[in-house]
Amino acid sequence: MTWPPAPLDPDELAGVVRPFGASRMLPARAYTSAEVLGWEHRHLFAGTWSCLGRLAELPAQRGATVGDVPVLLTRTGDEVRAFANTCRHRGHELLPDGGSADGRVVVCPYHGWVYTVDGALAAAPRFRDVPGFDPAEHGLVPLPARVWHGWVFVNATGDAPPFEEYAGALTELVAPYAPDRLTLAARHSYEVRANWKLLHENYQECYHCPRIHPELCAVSPPDSGDNYDLPGAWVGGSMDLRDGMATMSVDGRSGGVPLPGVDQRRVRYLALLPDLLLSLHPDYVMTHRMRPVAPDRTRVECSWLMPGGVADPTYAVEFWDRTNRQDWAACESVQRGLASPHFRPGPFAPNEDAVHQWVTLVGRAYRGDPPWAGG
Ligand code: FES
Ligand SMILES: [Fe+2]
Repeated sequence: MTWPPAPLDPDELAGVVRPFGASRMLPARAYTSAEVLGWEHRHLFAGTWSCLGRLAELPAQRGATVGDVPVLLTRTGDEVRAFANTCRHRGHELLPDGGSADGRVVVCPYHGWVYTVDGALAAAPRFRDVPGFDPAEHGLVPLPARVWHGWVFVNATGDAPPFEEYAGALTELVAPYAPDRLTLAARHSYEVRANWKLLHENYQECYHCPRIHPELCAVSPPDSGDNYDLPGAWVGGSMDLRDGMATMSVDGRSGGVPLPGVDQRRVRYLALLPDLLLSLHPDYVMTHRMRPVAPDRTRVECSWLMPGGVADPTYAVEFWDRTNRQDWAACESVQRGLASPHFRPGPFAPNEDAVHQWVTLVGRAYRGDPPWAGG
């Protein structure tokens, strides 16, 4: 399977997909064009597996938008189903984006068609005597959904490969942290005036750390660690903690408890395309869930997950809130800089290999090869 290419000049993308050392950043229009974002919404967001948050926070019914596709989630216990959020009568959404409902049936707000939580049409007012009307032909359109380590994922176009194949080796890398057993300790929401991909690229290198993250460099050497090269639609690596530092916090001390069975000397930074950053610490898991709202605007939901019973997550929240804001300021400045008519895509430093991996994934997708196509 291939995708239609993104509305970008193929010549500009030729520089992106060259091998590391010869490749360049994405062209400016990839970060500024509404047309490109429209393509990304359909293919990189709806066409892959997007994260819709934590199972523990999912109500019985929720409306969401995945890329450009409205989705309805229903939940029965730990079982999650996804459907096109499009009534089979005349197309009204069953719940608005972000809306939720309780109850065992889904009722369309427009003319009152009623569906069960598994998508079957249960009632259609005034249709009882309509000849030839068969409710079985008017069930909601099901979409692939998957609960993974406590997060809910949906493939809104319905044509991505199974989630296991998509995530590849990431499943095992995350497993020791047992995020499904952690609880939400804190959450911050940010709106960043930068393209969503700049946040990914910034996340994939610590070349910038000595310049803008004094607190981070005090607990973790910016040139430490390694990047992974394993199967799956993700990019990431690890960094070491300095001797005597227990975790990423302002003073390097943990106010929580070590997670059993996980590496206590290392922090893993993993980005699953398109919208979930997973930062795995010895004593907590932090995620950034990103949603582009405009080419130059991204909403970020940052969550700290910890074992139940940790009294005060401030040690981790304060550290990362400060670091987040340093990163957002840098990304916003890049957004302004690359909107300049004088911007030309620049080369990568030797320690920006993970950024290269990331833009290669995106550059190939722009040319029509989905992130699971390999290559
Ligand atoms: S559009 Fe849903 S009942 Fe008419
Ligand atoms: Fe940073």
